[in-house]
Amino acid sequence: MCRDVEPLVKPVNPPFPLDDSLYCLEAEEISFFKRQTNIQDEQALKTHIIDVQKAAYKVAPYACIRGFDFVHPNISKLHNYDHILKRGSKGAILLDIGSCLGVDARKAIEDGFPAHNIISSDIKESFCELGCKLFKSSSEPSCFIPGDIFDPAFLSIARPTSSVPEDTMLDIQTVRSLNDLRGRVGVVHISKVFHLFDEEKQLELARALGGLLSCEPGSIICGNHVIGSEKGIVHLTLLGVDITYFCHSLETWTMLWDGVVFEKGQVKVETSTSSIDTGGIAFPVLYWSVTRL
Ligand SMILES: C[S@@+](CC[C@H](N)C(=O)[O-])C[C@H]1O[C@@H](n2cnc3c(N)ncnc32)[C@H](O)[C@@H]1O
Repeated sequence: MCRDVEPLVKPVNPPFPLDDSLYCLEAEEISFFKRQTNIQDEQALKTHIIDVQKAAYKVAPYACIRGFDFVHPNISKLHNYDHILKRGSKGAILLDIGSCLGVDARKAIEDGFPAHNIISSDIKESFCELGCKLFKSSSEPSCFIPGDIFDPAFLSIARPTSSVPEDTMLDIQTVRSLNDLRGRVGVVHISKVFHLFDEEKQLELARALGGLLSCEPGSIICGNHVIGSEKGIVHLTLLGVDITYFCHSLETWTMLWDGVVFEKGQVKVETSTSSIDTGGIAFPVLYWSVTRL
């Protein structure tokens, strides 16, 4: 049974009106979208992205959609992106959780991660279709599995594995839930999802992701989310919306992975802080990775 999990950062209801002036893509991101969509004219590209944004905002009025965050590739901002791409060349599965319109999967594919080994997953099934609309493709380039990460039938807590699954060959087209991937994922990527949930749910999610990771040294769980200077509740106003987050500090986030989810010494936790600009407001973001030793 799916439990009702209330995110801390809820879609605003009624939604705040959209504002085209928040559209802001860096030159590199514009080039990425030109290559991906084949729309070469920048004004036409902007109109296209805004059209898709409107449709996505109807599905879920998240601040990240209103602030055009959903169009920025995140995975390539990680300090160990090269390591992630190398795992791909060695046959690792990449799972992107809370994939929204699939920008990170497409970025990784463009940079050489084999599409047939990528799985994107989101609670909103229609984001898959909207991703195809955004990238002007007739189908998702990789596999998409819809589901709720707090539904144990879809993703349940499991201890990290210490041995390779006996049936080493997995056809990801046959995967129906993330539980089918237990101990098999070489790269778990999760961007701007943890901060949607309270402390207890963050721990539950981290434990479930730990169970998905392959025990092969170099396997990695990574992502980004909003960070606080110390562990606790943070209140901020973003684009006129009052938002409440539960944030770990650098220390408590590291301890959660190295000592709670994994036995101490089983993983290396690396972190770096940055800030992202949403509608002219900069707020602190933690980029992090947990690598199996
Ligand atoms: C803030 S957006 C981040 C999207 C994207 N990863 C990024 O970095 O731009 C959070 C995403 O998590 C998804 N999500 C929220 N709750 C979820 C749940 N319980 N299970 C699976 N996905 C969920 C939302 O639908 C949304 O696409």
